[in-house]
Amino acid sequence: MATDDAPLRNLWYMAGFAARLAPGKLNHQVLLGEPVVLGRSHDGEVFALRDTCPHRGVPFSAGKIASDGTVECPYHGWRFATDGVCKMIPSLVEGQDFDASRIRARTYPVREQDGLIWVYMAAEGQENQPPKGEPPEVGITNPRPRWSVSQTFRCSVDHAVIGLMDPAHAAYVHAHWYWRRKAKEKTKHYAPLSNGFVMTRHQPSKPAYRLLGAEVTTEITFELPSTRFENVEGRLFGRPFKVVSLTVCTPIDAETTQVTQIMYWPRWVGFIRPFFMVFGAAFLGDDRRMVELQRQGLKFTPRLMLIQDADQPAIWYHRVKNAWAASVATGTPFINPVEERTLRWRS
Ligand code: FES
Ligand SMILES: [Fe+2]
Repeated sequence: MATDDAPLRNLWYMAGFAARLAPGKLNHQVLLGEPVVLGRSHDGEVFALRDTCPHRGVPFSAGKIASDGTVECPYHGWRFATDGVCKMIPSLVEGQDFDASRIRARTYPVREQDGLIWVYMAAEGQENQPPKGEPPEVGITNPRPRWSVSQTFRCSVDHAVIGLMDPAHAAYVHAHWYWRRKAKEKTKHYAPLSNGFVMTRHQPSKPAYRLLGAEVTTEITFELPSTRFENVEGRLFGRPFKVVSLTVCTPIDAETTQVTQIMYWPRWVGFIRPFFMVFGAAFLGDDRRMVELQRQGLKFTPRLMLIQDADQPAIWYHRVKNAWAASVATGTPFINPVEERTLRWRS
């Protein structure tokens, strides 16, 4: 199992939906145990600051964005530009020579992309370096979140991620009458990706995919820190389409993880939306309930196992994670330890 449970650094984490952050608004978050305020300026720019005022620690998120575009702390009215520089200390009087710009609030790189807001969490001491890489892209034209569900899992990010990539639980955890079918032996091919691995393109066997016609294929990727893409392709009425399911696990703190699933599809494929409205939240809820049960067992710190091919994705996750953590700690390039392989299991 993992040697280090700390969430990885020098990576982008999904922090929320762009549409839920209106201009002029501030929104408090906790990411990887750090208080972060996401804001959107009056002209639409998204920014992120550490959500503690450098003066006396009051959360900026309880303040406001002033008319000059700065963030005003609610306690003594200090104002900070969105790049973190202090612009004004109202209590100073004429002749008190103090350079406010010496004071800085911590900032985080942010990106608004595919309807989502991503925040870069740098390693300690590397906060001032530019981000290494960019957040993952959905990769369909005009990507808009068409359906989403977000739930808080009371578990570490590792258990949330492993639950996502675990092929052997579906027949037990998601055993609804409309989904259940006889367990079959599966053979799936895997290949490395730059920060993870992919279950290569294949014809999915679950009956639900038949909604999307007979020619449907899918691939499932996992990349650090905790991003899973399912990229479905097919052809309906002679027209090719892509449907993308993005699932991200955002660590709030060591024991809390926000798990969010977002679906993207071209507008004309919108007839699949009712399916997600009926079943989508139920599936994530199944996983969340299992994590609650697991929590009861983990209190007693049992030794855990990862066994054979069905647990190989979880083994890879730990290896990729450890390799990334080592590269951040030593400054050496990350080398993906995953090798191409075919896995077999029954599920
Ligand atoms: S605590 Fe923020 S201005 Fe004093
Ligand atoms: Fe599941």
